[in-house]
Amino acid sequence: MKLLVCGGAGFIGSNFARQRIVEHGDAVTVLDKLTYAGRKENLDDVRDHAGFSFVHAGIEDKDAVVAAMADVDAVVNFAAETHVDRSIAEPDAFITTHALGTFVLLEAARERGVRYVQVSTDEVYGSIEQGSFTEASPLAPSSPYSATKAGADLLVASYHHTFRLESLICRGSNNYGPYQYPEKLIPLMVLNALHGDPLPVYGDGQQVRNWIYVEDFARGIGHVLAQGTPGETYNVGGPDEAVNLDVVRRIIALTGASEELIESVPDRPGHDRRYSLGSEKARALGWEARVRFDEGLERTVAWYRDNRTWWEPIRSGDYRAYYERQYGRSLGAD
Ligand code: NAD
Ligand code: TYD
Repeated sequence: MKLLVCGGAGFIGSNFARQRIVEHGDAVTVLDKLTYAGRKENLDDVRDHAGFSFVHAGIEDKDAVVAAMADVDAVVNFAAETHVDRSIAEPDAFITTHALGTFVLLEAARERGVRYVQVSTDEVYGSIEQGSFTEASPLAPSSPYSATKAGADLLVASYHHTFRLESLICRGSNNYGPYQYPEKLIPLMVLNALHGDPLPVYGDGQQVRNWIYVEDFARGIGHVLAQGTPGETYNVGGPDEAVNLDVVRRIIALTGASEELIESVPDRPGHDRRYSLGSEKARALGWEARVRFDEGLERTVAWYRDNRTWWEPIRSGDYRAYYERQYGRSLGAD
């Protein structure tokens, strides 16, 4: 299969591209704007495979998108601004990428008549105290990130309803694993723990997230791509839920850091308390998560410990300024 993977230089997109190339022998073109979160290095081990190509462009760039889509069988769109805290501080790019960018992709896919998978998030459903969201749950997003992702989902659904585009939506829960930018909870805590920097826990730390190992999510997207019914949405959630403070304590145990590094910091405005995703529909496609949280977290900590050359340029670059703005203190030296 020949795939266009938009946002394929980011965390999940690069894991997905790797899986498709190595395990399925697909020809993959990655189209990516290379924002702070997108890194060509994430694809270093697959760039020499036959059929791999890279286009440096934004999904809102119509000419680049039309050219990249010219000879593909399907499009999978990961391209997004993805950090809730950044969407609170500076929402502009979230609106451009999720609304305009998705529209440009949909128009090009409609023109070409290619299958289209939109990668989305459980955050579009908002927070849930008990039980789990299904695909029929109403959308109730809380942050500019989740609101613009929900808007993109609605646009994707409308292109199926109105134009019969073969479009599908795949909503994942919180991903973790190799190549995740260290603004997100798990890689941030792992790197800070390895460096003896404080571990900033928002509010009471009792928020719950439903964790999925990135390779499991990537496989779930593959199932939706291959077997999903156009016009349908599929939730792909992880096998385990965990309270934030508990996640931080497990990272402390795995890195040998001190519990005294835990620091309570002001809560995120509008912070969602709990996410939980029911994935029956994805299971009916033959998908099942394989990696439990304990095992995945151990693998993830080992990956960051062993891949200093991946994170060193991040931790010593613009990320330091972001960290200071977000946490009101500087990171320690590497
Ligand atoms: P990421 O921030 O690591 O990567 C995003 C990628 O998109 C980067 O390579 C970036 O350069 C690229 N990008 C951003 N704007 C672009 C634009 N306008 N045009 C082209 N490329 C652009 O994000 P991620 O965690 O890999 O998330 C990928 C997708 O999965 C997103 O759509 C996100 O909403 C969704 N998702 C993420 C999670 C999670 O826990 N990380 C969970 C569920 C769903
Ligand atoms: P995050 O990784 O940003 O994912 P999301 O907000 O999309 O779920 O955050 C996961 C949880 O961890 C969320 O409840 C916020 C919390 N958190 C902290 O307590 N401290 C931090 O420094 C970060 C980045 C997140």
